[in-house]
Amino acid sequence: MLFSCNQESNNTTDLQNRIDSLELKLADTYKPGFGDFMGILQTHHSKLWFAGQHKNWKLADFEVHELMETIEDIQKFQSDRQETPLMTMIIPPLDSIAKAIEQKNAALFRTSYRSLTNACNTCHQAVEMEFNVVTIPETSPYTNQDFKPVN
Ligand code: HEC
Repeated sequence: MLFSCNQESNNTTDLQNRIDSLELKLADTYKPGFGDFMGILQTHHSKLWFAGQHKNWKLADFEVHELMETIEDIQKFQSDRQETPLMTMIIPPLDSIAKAIEQKNAALFRTSYRSLTNACNTCHQAVEMEFNVVTIPETSPYTNQDFKPVN
């Protein structure tokens, strides 16, 4: 009886130690910050434009999905930030771009892309980051990527 009781308390101590060390490890785990995710959004926002300009609809579709995934990552990994609920404001223009891609409609793509860019800036103004101004890119900084369709 005494033996089994000691055994139990040893197990509890052991478990507590393991929990403590896991908590320490978790606290040290790298988690991208809000600004890191914004850099990812900026990349895909830029690539999306050049894909659309070249009517590379497959690549454009890919970039829309990358943007959606990044929004989901912000919602998951930055759920404690008060700005996060505002991320949904770029979903309607992304839906509209997705529709333009499906229809291979270059004119709708351009107007929807303008709305997307405006929505990025509307949020920046709302969170007092108005000095971060997003624009429609002029030249691709990615000289190592071909935006033209493969066939
Ligand atoms: C929640 C509303 C919100 C939306 C929507 C949003 N941003 Fe941001 N953005 C922020 C916040 C907050 C910061 C400051 C991040 C920080 O604390 O480091 C930021 C910062 C940035 C920066 C500066 C980061 C840097 O290192 O230079 C860029 C670029 C940026 N956003 C791009 C975009 C783009 C492109 C879009 C649209 C596709 C977008 N953002 C949509 C809230 C938003």
